[in-house]
Amino acid sequence: MTDLLGAAIAHPNIAFIKYWGNLNDDLRLAANSSLSINLAALETRTMLAFTSDDNPSSDTLTINDQQITGAALQRVTAFLDVARDMAGTRLPARVTSTTNFPIGAGIASSAAAFAALALAASQALHLPLTEPALSRLARRGSGSACRSVPGGFVEWQAGSRDEDSFAFSIAPANHWGLVDCIAVIEDQQKQHGSTAGHALAWTSPLQAARLADGMRRLDLCRQAVMQKDFEALALVVEQDSHLMHAVMMTSQPALFYWAPFSLTIMKLVPAWRRSGIPVCYTFDAGANAHVITTRDFASTVANKLGELDGIKQIITSGVGGSARLWTKDLDGTNND
Ligand code: PMV
Repeated sequence: MTDLLGAAIAHPNIAFIKYWGNLNDDLRLAANSSLSINLAALETRTMLAFTSDDNPSSDTLTINDQQITGAALQRVTAFLDVARDMAGTRLPARVTSTTNFPIGAGIASSAAAFAALALAASQALHLPLTEPALSRLARRGSGSACRSVPGGFVEWQAGSRDEDSFAFSIAPANHWGLVDCIAVIEDQQKQHGSTAGHALAWTSPLQAARLADGMRRLDLCRQAVMQKDFEALALVVEQDSHLMHAVMMTSQPALFYWAPFSLTIMKLVPAWRRSGIPVCYTFDAGANAHVITTRDFASTVANKLGELDGIKQIITSGVGGSARLWTKDLDGTNND
């Protein structure tokens, strides 16, 4: 039997309205709906082969030329089991992935990884999945991965069961020329993964208040995006980031993702905004600042960040499209 092959490309996303906490950890059913943009300049490329060879007899995973074992491989195997169950096969897979950005440092690497893996696996296993079905499958690997399946400005309706918890595009990538200037403050793997963090969200007395106000923030954010109202966007994006980090910091045990320099950026960016630059910040489960601006101001903001001591790298990205198949010849020639 020949190998079943798939190859796909996906972008990470940055959430304007965050997902933190699950109703069901196993199915990764989010406690609240969220909204994000895909990041065009950052991508994960994944190739996968389900093989009937006896060697290897279990899944293998290579990320950026490094053989991965342990918990990360188990997570991929658990995810592939979902796809294998859908296709009625037990074949092990060889997965090879490359990224063009630091992984595990609050740049949603798992979102791009599982969106690409879901698409590559569905191609290899001949699963005819609609976009919502693919988004649901990606969600099983990493909740936020469901938002890297559709393109542009994306909303994940949390829903209450597997069938109604998926993401969809609310506007295409070219709707509004926003740019994320990512100030990399730490490029090491973060200490607390988000999977464990979601489970701790419920130990914070602030999570209930954060959720109770969630729809208001989501509506404000969606409206700001649709109307391209940067000032309204800035206020709700920063508040939503603060609320998620307040829950993290008041969990038991407490999770502190910020580094001292993260706070420096939180003080500077609103001052830049007051001086007339459309700019705001948001932080995922990491110390790195996502400084959001518009295309016209991207070089001004990147230059201002570049003048600061304490930033290792600045990565800028516009809004990206959906996950897509990677048409790659077997001899390794790229066709995209
Ligand atoms: O998809 P996960 O389990 O890595 O969770 C992502 C959580 C945040 O990045 C912190 C917020 C979000 O909505 O992307």
